[in-house]
Amino acid sequence: MKGIVLAGGTGSRLFPLTKVTNKHLLPIGKYPMIVHPVHKLTAAGISDILIVTGIEHMGDVVNLLGSGKDYNCRFTYKVQDEAGGIAQALGLAEDFAHKESICVILGDNIFENPITEFVKKFDQQSEGAKLLIKEVPDPHRYGVPELEDGQILSIEEKPQTPKSSYCVTGIYMYDEHIFEVIPSLKPSIRGELEITDVNNYYIQQNKLSYDILEGWWTDAGTFTSYRLANELMATQEFS
Ligand code: G1P
Repeated sequence: MKGIVLAGGTGSRLFPLTKVTNKHLLPIGKYPMIVHPVHKLTAAGISDILIVTGIEHMGDVVNLLGSGKDYNCRFTYKVQDEAGGIAQALGLAEDFAHKESICVILGDNIFENPITEFVKKFDQQSEGAKLLIKEVPDPHRYGVPELEDGQILSIEEKPQTPKSSYCVTGIYMYDEHIFEVIPSLKPSIRGELEITDVNNYYIQQNKLSYDILEGWWTDAGTFTSYRLANELMATQEFS
């Protein structure tokens, strides 16, 4: 399995912290934000990792991460010309994936536990997709799964009336068919190709599994969640 960290977007909710730098380069604990998802991938045995970010910050991202030798992995970099959504950014990964399955982590997702067991489970799942979900106090901020009898029936992106108290975290696993789904997507009201539409496609095909992520999880894209992520990661050290 190959790994992808998505680190594009404008970071507008963290302005002016993001006026001159990329959100994913801001500090979380003792490390720049992007180092945390990279570490989750390498700890799960994934060593071939694509980083996607916008052109204006690509130089800084490469300066930070380099070839990957300091992180026990190999990085490939891809420029996202415009912030067009998570699914649009993922569409850039087709050549990199080269028909292998992929594990994607949004660069602002900060969480406690390893993902190794889920990566192993998805390796055994012959096709489809796997999501990790988490109970949260504010599901309306996220993609929200409608759950019944241990299955996800549908996912709504930022619903006013959430159908469960769970959110779809930004940790996704897909088979190679994702690259056939993305070109068929239409932009949402916020003008983005939504990863939720990709996930609903897999639900319709009956090929979506999920697990519940234990331990704490947060995004770090707002001032409140950014501060929380810093508190939670304050003492984290990578050897
Ligand atoms: C994105 C996804 C959403 C998901 C969230 C996890 O939201 O669209 O479905 O629950 O990441 O962090 P965004 O950060 O674009 O608001």
